[in-house]
Amino acid sequence: MPVSSRPTLHLTVGLPGVGKTTRARELERACGALRLTPDEWMAPLFGLRWADFGGKRDVLEGRLVWVGHQVLRAGVSVILDFGCWSPDERYALRAIADLAGADFELHYLTLPEDERVERATARWRRAPEEIFEMTDEDHARFHGLFSPPTAEELQGCSLPPPPTPFESWPAWASDRWPTLPRLDR
Ligand SMILES: Nc1ncnc2c1ncn2[C@@H]1O[C@H](COP(=O)(O)OP(=O)(O)OP(=O)(O)O)[C@@H](O)[C@H]1O
Ligand SMILES: [Mg+2]
Repeated sequence: MPVSSRPTLHLTVGLPGVGKTTRARELERACGALRLTPDEWMAPLFGLRWADFGGKRDVLEGRLVWVGHQVLRAGVSVILDFGCWSPDERYALRAIADLAGADFELHYLTLPEDERVERATARWRRAPEEIFEMTDEDHARFHGLFSPPTAEELQGCSLPPPPTPFESWPAWASDRWPTLPRLDR
């Protein structure tokens, strides 16, 4: 029997159109990991009316993290193609990888802004059921909301403590994604 190596939790990070799902598919092909791309689940589960989507992505993501944790524990690598705009989300997912005995790899993608917007628009034209149309104002707002990983975070700095009053990152994650059970209990 081959010696099994540790599985890896891969996380794609970046603004719309930078190429996260393209990278996630490459990883899937290269390492046989389970790829979980929420955009492929939203419309089949919840229909096509973007205005009704409030909160549903969190419902879905919580369950995908939960299933991803189980798959990692079974020894198979997982790709969460989430985008993850906040450092706390990324730290929490890293803590969950640790808990599953998995390595963690963050794939941070960037592009010059004009190219990114062009690709996001091309993507919307190609698959309008997977993404809503974004205006210039939306793109500007996204920039304000996105916290890119720092050099320290990219180098895998030690995990900071979770925000008060949470006793652990998995506890924080269950609050952020209410459909994710506490994984450290
Ligand atoms: N190297 C490339 N050259 C040109 N176009 C590309 C390249 N890589 C990806 N694309 C195209 O750019 C668009 C965006 O790519 P992709 O869907 O991978 O981005 P994304 O970061 O997952 O976007 P989103 O956040 O909206 O899910 C797609 O239409 C894709 O086919
Ligand atoms: Mg994508």
